[in-house]
Order: sequence, then structure tokens, then C-alpha cells
Amino acid sequence: MIRRVKGTRDILPPESRLWVAVEAEAHRIFSGFGYDEIRLPVMEPTELFVRSVGEGTDIVSKEMYTFSDRKGRSLTLRPEGTAGVARAYIENGLGQRPHPLRLSYMGPMFRYEKMQRGRYRQFSQIGLELLGAATPEADVEVLLVLHTFLAALGFDDLVIVLNNLGDPEDRERYIEVLKGELTPHRERLCRDCQRRWDENPLRILDCKVPSCREIVEGTTPVGEVASPESQTHVAAVEEQLSALGIAVRRAPRLVRGLDYYLRTVFEVISPELGENTVICGGGRYDRLISDLGGSQVPGIGFAIGEDRLVEVLPESTRERFLGERPVAVLPVGGGAATVALDLARKLALAGVRAEVEVTGRSLKAGLKWAGKLHARWVVILGEDELAVAQATVRHMDTGEQERMALDSVARRLAGGTEAGVD
Ligand code: HAM
Repeated sequence: MIRRVKGTRDILPPESRLWVAVEAEAHRIFSGFGYDEIRLPVMEPTELFVRSVGEGTDIVSKEMYTFSDRKGRSLTLRPEGTAGVARAYIENGLGQRPHPLRLSYMGPMFRYEKMQRGRYRQFSQIGLELLGAATPEADVEVLLVLHTFLAALGFDDLVIVLNNLGDPEDRERYIEVLKGELTPHRERLCRDCQRRWDENPLRILDCKVPSCREIVEGTTPVGEVASPESQTHVAAVEEQLSALGIAVRRAPRLVRGLDYYLRTVFEVISPELGENTVICGGGRYDRLISDLGGSQVPGIGFAIGEDRLVEVLPESTRERFLGERPVAVLPVGGGAATVALDLARKLALAGVRAEVEVTGRSLKAGLKWAGKLHARWVVILGEDELAVAQATVRHMDTGEQERMALDSVARRLAGGTEAGVD
């Protein structure tokens, strides 16, 4: 037997319906705020991620699916979406369009990570980017869209945490401060942090090892070393979010695993999956496009991990997305099948989910099949019914049934509820 690649998943029905519904909701909310989808390649030149996400990051140094194509070019399966958006912005001359530019995306990303709950090697992100606005209002909008989307999905216990990373110039200063403060404890840092010391010292702040956490607790927050301009920026973001009724918590030691960020960075944490499970990450990246050879275009955005989001979807939302019960259409006897399929066509066009019995079951076996489908209604199309252009519509829960004109069935079931049949 051939098995799926480790870290990849088969998303089966009916679970897949949750994904479709979550994506539809994302399209609805994002487009309501003026974001249009950009569809980008899943593979990009390796150099794109090296230069954007950063050489010293875990993603680039050990998690990328990198391979040579038949001509020896180094390609990488995208580990995230922002770099591709920046590349596409430059390559397609999107700077010519009215700004700010609002783009959204969703699709598979690839990281060679250690498997655990909510962590996969192929996972999906739902994200958006707002390009060409450096104001606090831009940050607020992005967080507002995020919050609106999560609220539309019924989440009310998610926590948005936010921090000020300062500007890149501040970062260098901060790293000096941090290293100075950590030096007396250097020996006690874990092996990974020993490596981070030279490669990416900010990541020491993000270490999950309890002894490292303890050491880090005593250090100066990055936001305190940040420039006054960036402090004013992030304070304005916090103030406006509060005016919009969006609760955010300052996380003074939040740093993100990608190098392109500056100023505002944020994450959404699910208490259900634990403090370490991040549903969404994002932030500002005003130098990314120019670092990749484009013009000076500021940007901010986020990406939600769809796998994790679906995993913690509130029960009531799951029910709403999965609850729709189909109509079973049951032709019995010769000639009824095409009538059944014709009815299914009308039902589908009326927005009613219908499944036709196409394997030739008897009435009794067909009713059993409809029960397994958890159908709300069964439309029985027997010879007696068809002779007078009627159908028998049976309510599966009560067993009550009624004869009705065939051409009225779709209309009367279109409500999807008992009220649909009088
Ligand atoms: P990120 O924090 O690396 O940010 O990823 C965003 C989200 O993707 C995470 O919060 C998590 O929910 C999900 N995720 C990441 N890795 C995995 C995995 N192995 N399995 C399942 N889910 C995962 C970015 O990717 C940035 N591009 C976000 C951004 C957009 N910043 C600005 N614009």
C-alpha cells in the first residue's frame, strides 16, 4: 500500500465542508473590505525566501522543501505567502495600480517541521496583505479584518497579542542590549539558543524551553529600545483598536520567526490549543519590497493557519457548516431514474443538496440508504406516482409523507425545513 507523505493530510468529507465554508467566509469578509485574491505559484526560486524570510531563520535554515529542477535551478515549495506577494508585486508592476493595494490569498504552504498536533509539513494558510500604506490606520484595518473574520466564524475567546519590534536600525541596538543582558546566563541557554546567539539572537526570546524562558523574562523588552516614531506608531494602533472594541494584549517579548518584520507584529493564540499554538501571525514589513529590488513600498499583513483554525472552530459554527441534511431522491422502477436526476438538477439549482439513488436499490433498501445519509426528506418516485406526475415526499424523522405534484417538489423543498412542505 502506498501511504501519504509524512506531515501531509487527506481532508475527507464531511470535514472538507468545513474548509470550503471557512474559505467562503474568508472570501466574503475579505472582499467586503476590498481585498481581492492573488493566486501565486506554489514553487518559487529558492533565493526569494533566503532574501525575504531570512537566512538565519528556522524556516530557511532547516524547514524548506528545496530541490533542483531538471535544468539545475534551485526551487523551493513556498513556506509562506508574503514573499511571493512581494515578488509578484514587483514583477507585475503592481505599483502602477491605485494604492493602497489590498490582496488576499489562500492555499498550501510547505515546511519540513517536526510533526505534532496542529503542525504539518503541508498546511494551508489564509492571508492578506495591505501594500502601500505606512500609517497606523493600515495596521488597524488589517487587524480589524482579521478580527471581523474570526468573529464571523464564531470565535470569542481568541487572544490577539501584539508587540513593537522597532525599526531595523533599532534592532541592531536592541540585539546589543539583549546579548549584554544574556551574557551572564549564556552557558545555561539550550543548545538551539547557543546556535541562535550568532545566527538570530532575537529568536532566543521565542524559545519554548522553560529554563530559557526564565532567563528571557528578565531582559529589556524590544519595544523599549525602539525608536520614538515606532513607539508612537504602535501606541496609535493600540488606541484605535481599543476604540473599535478590539481587545489586544501587549506581548513585550513577542518576536516572529521571519526576518522581514518591523514595528507592529502580532499573533492570535487559541486558549483551547494552548498558549503555544498560534492560529495566525502577521506584522509590518516596510522594507521587504525594496530589499527584493522593488521601490519603497510599505506593507502589512497576516496569515492564518487554516488547519489549526478548522481544528478549533466553535461547535456551533461546525454545526452550522455541517448541519445541512440532504434530500434523498429515490427512483423505484423503470423510467424513474431520469425523472429523479431531473429533479436533482432542479433541487441543486434551487440550492438544495440532493443525492439520487443511482445503484438500483429497492424501496426498502433505498429508505435504509437515505437513513444512513441522514436525509431530512426522501422523495420517492415510483410507478404509481409517476403515472400521475406526482412524488411521495417522506419526512425521515417523523415518517409522515405526502403526495405532491412533481413540478412543485423543488420549490416546496427549497426552504430546506419543515416549513418547506405544507
Ligand atoms: P507564520 O507565523 O510563519 O507567518 O505563519 C502563519 C500561520 O501559519 C501560523 O500562525 C500558523 O497558524 C500557520 N502555520 C505555520 N506553520 C505551520 C505548520 N507547520 N502547520 C500548520 N500550520 C502552520 C507567515 O507565514 C507570514 N507570511 C504571515 C504574514 C503575512 N505576515 C505578514 N503578512
